[in-house]
Amino acid sequence: MKRVLLTLVFFGLATMTAVPVMAADQGHGAAVAAKTARAADAAPDQAKADQAPATDQAPAARQKTADKATAAGKAAATGAGRGETAAAAAKPAAGTAATPARAAEELKPVPLTNSDCVKCHFDIAKDLDAHGGAHLEVNCTGCHQEHPPSGTNAIPSCSECHDPGENKHFATKGCTSCHNPHHPLELNFTTVAATKPACLTCHPDKGKEMAAHPSAHAEQDCNSCHNQHGLGPGQYQTCLDCHEGHTPDMTIKDCLKCHKPHSPTDITYGDDIPVAFCAACHDDIAATLAKSGTKHSEMRCVECHDGRHGKITPCVDCHDQPHDPYIHKKFPECLTCHRDPHNLAR
Ligand code: HEC
Ligand code: HEC
Ligand code: HEC
Ligand code: HEC
Ligand code: HEC
Ligand code: HEC
Ligand code: HEC
Ligand code: HEC
Ligand code: HEC
Ligand code: HEC
Ligand code: HEC
Ligand code: HEC
Repeated sequence: MKRVLLTLVFFGLATMTAVPVMAADQGHGAAVAAKTARAADAAPDQAKADQAPATDQAPAARQKTADKATAAGKAAATGAGRGETAAAAAKPAAGTAATPARAAEELKPVPLTNSDCVKCHFDIAKDLDAHGGAHLEVNCTGCHQEHPPSGTNAIPSCSECHDPGENKHFATKGCTSCHNPHHPLELNFTTVAATKPACLTCHPDKGKEMAAHPSAHAEQDCNSCHNQHGLGPGQYQTCLDCHEGHTPDMTIKDCLKCHKPHSPTDITYGDDIPVAFCAACHDDIAATLAKSGTKHSEMRCVECHDGRHGKITPCVDCHDQPHDPYIHKKFPECLTCHRDPHNLAR
């Protein structure tokens, strides 16, 4: 089916254009006016080929539109695509064939331009203007090439411009669950059913980490903790939103000294862990050691249990073999005589 793209079949409206253009441009501010004007110049009428987005030609054709509109001058339009466009432009009347003859004679439909959209879709134009990012340059008609009721192909697929073959992220599903095309980088993950597949396209290391260290967190979707794309206040849930600390005074910073959020059961730490944190679960040992009165009681737990939870540093790493070699040969275990590292027999 050949159509005139973006043709208002609502003929009464065509006659209104002159007045609202002024109102819209003034009301909406210079930025939108400038952008829409620029895009309108760059892609004057969008009267392009018959593009069903599902076909293979559609991506290339729409991509060109974007390229033109962005003025980024990616690749120049290919010969084939231009041919189609020109062909479509040459037959502009096809789409209006069904229109009542009287109306068609008296009121020729005019193609919609970017500066028209704001008149009826003010909020969207405002949104795109403020938060559109790179899509601001694409502009309304760079994406919306038809308009209901005459055009049924009003909504573009992301894949028309973001080729799924280009990178893994563009091959995920549910683009608009994360990205509103009118503010594509203002992301809110909380309403997305499953973010993980998309997140892992750019953060594959997190997937590997979770697979290497299975945990209850690895079973969760990323958005159970990450509401937005960032680590600013309120952009993610912290440990204490869901758990209690092992001691009442532990802060979130403390949690992260021992736990990694994406592999919380792989517990590693530096040498700055106070005895009290270990004592939260090993209070018996801490008490024994403190009471023992040996030189070991002046040490922190992590001096002998360094780096990783459960690790035990052998006595000889610090003391070598201090006694007569004969004694060490006969009694290879230091604790045969010294009994308990936390309560040394001397
Ligand atoms: C005269 C008012 C008017 C103008 C001008 C106008 N629109 Fe619309 N638009 C509407 C109305 C009304 C609807 C709802 C139509 C429907 O649901 O059938 C609509 C619906 C849409 C839709 C949704 C289509 C769908 O299938 O859900 C898109 C996209 C759209 N407009 C884009 C544009 C763009 C882009 C422009 C400028 C090139 C524009 N409109 C100009 C009134 C307008
Ligand atoms: C980068 C492509 C792109 C640009 C630029 C763009 N849109 Fe859209 N628009 C879309 C897509 C995709 C949807 C469908 C969103 C969805 O399904 O959630 C949409 C939906 C719409 C809708 C119907 C749904 C709604 O949100 O009300 C309207 C109306 C609309 N756009 C108007 C506009 C106008 C006006 C502009 C310019 C100010 C514009 N769009 C710019 C891609 C775009
Ligand atoms: C008509 C072409 C076109 C369509 C359709 C389109 N985009 Fe884009 N988009 C672009 C261009 C051009 C850019 C800027 C260059 C680039 O990143 O490739 C862009 C950039 C983006 C960006 C980065 C924005 C920024 O400010 O850096 C996101 C996110 C995005 N697009 C998502 C989407 C999603 C999701 C859809 C479908 C709902 C979509 N796009 C549909 C053309 C399009
Ligand atoms: C689970 C949420 C989610 C889904 C689903 C999703 N994205 Fe994204 N997308 C993101 C995040 C997060 C970024 C990074 C944003 C940033 O850098 O600020 C991003 C960035 C982008 C960018 C700009 C960066 C780039 O690589 O050029 C584009 C374009 C884009 N996405 C397109 C898409 C398309 C197309 C789809 C569907 C095939 C899609 N996204 C699905 C979350 C998502
Ligand atoms: C299109 C690629 C892309 C997608 C998709 C993506 N990210 Fe990112 N993300 C990035 C890049 C690039 C950075 C690094 C930005 C920086 O260093 O400032 C980043 C950084 C982050 C950060 C750290 C931000 C900071 O302030 O340090 C978090 C948290 C994050 N991403 C979580 C996620 C989650 C959760 C998802 C899925 C909902 C996701 N990302 C999807 C590209 C992406
Ligand atoms: C149980 C909560 C939780 C889950 C689930 C979670 N994260 Fe995180 N994530 C965090 C916390 C907390 C931080 C901040 C860590 C810090 O401050 O050092 C973080 C930081 C990040 C960062 C930036 C710092 C870094 O380590 O690179 C990225 C990227 C990230 N997460 C991606 C993801 C992805 C992708 C998923 C899903 C596969 C995910 N997260 C699931 C809690 C979580
Ligand atoms: C959105 C809620 C949420 C956040 C935020 C969260 N967790 Fe969890 N975490 C859970 C759930 C649910 C479980 C599984 C049930 C349980 O053990 O309570 C869990 C389990 C754990 C486990 C045991 C894992 C296992 O497989 O046995 C550890 C350790 C843990 N969390 C530490 C942390 C730390 C540290 C943080 C901060 C970086 C954190 N959690 C942030 C929800 C959360
Ligand atoms: C000194 C290191 C250390 C610090 C700091 C620490 N944890 Fe733990 N945490 C552990 C160890 C070790 C385990 C594992 C116990 C086991 O094997 O059962 C654990 C287990 C957990 C578990 C699993 C359930 C349980 O209680 O056994 C959760 C949840 C947890 N920690 C949350 C937190 C939170 C939240 C914080 C910060 C407030 C925190 N941890 C700070 C060492 C620490
Ligand atoms: C949340 C409670 C918790 C915290 C905090 C905790 N542990 Fe443990 N720890 C345990 C549990 C439970 C076990 C026994 C189960 C196991 O082997 O994981 C254990 C076992 C050990 C073991 C013996 C491992 C073995 O192979 O016999 C050592 C050593 C140890 N912890 C040292 C420490 C040190 C040092 C700290 C402080 C940095 C600490 N723990 C903090 C709960 C904790
Ligand atoms: C991380 C190093 C480290 C490890 C491991 C270690 N010690 Fe010690 N030990 C010390 C230090 C430091 C002292 C105090 C030395 C001093 O003040 O001269 C000490 C003192 C001692 C003393 C004298 C105690 C006193 O109060 O005078 C004995 C006995 C001893 N260690 C035995 C052992 C045995 C047995 C083991 C293995 C079970 C062991 N140590 C493991 C560091 C270590
Ligand atoms: C001087 C070194 C040293 C210090 C300091 C030390 N430990 Fe140990 N710890 C050991 C050694 C050696 C073993 C192994 C004992 C054995 O093989 O019977 C051990 C064993 C353990 C065990 C597992 C066996 C058991 O007795 O349950 C736990 C738990 C433990 N230590 C916790 C702690 C805590 C908590 C602290 C601090 C309050 C601490 N340790 C301080 C050297 C030390
Ligand atoms: C046969 C029993 C026995 C064995 C086995 C043994 N010790 Fe001792 N150790 C003693 C006695 C008794 C003393 C106290 C008398 C002394 O100062 O010579 C002592 C003292 C020490 C002291 C304190 C020395 C000082 O100068 O204050 C250290 C350190 C020590 N032993 C480490 C070790 C280490 C490490 C091992 C294992 C490699 C070990 N011992 C094995 C019996 C033993």
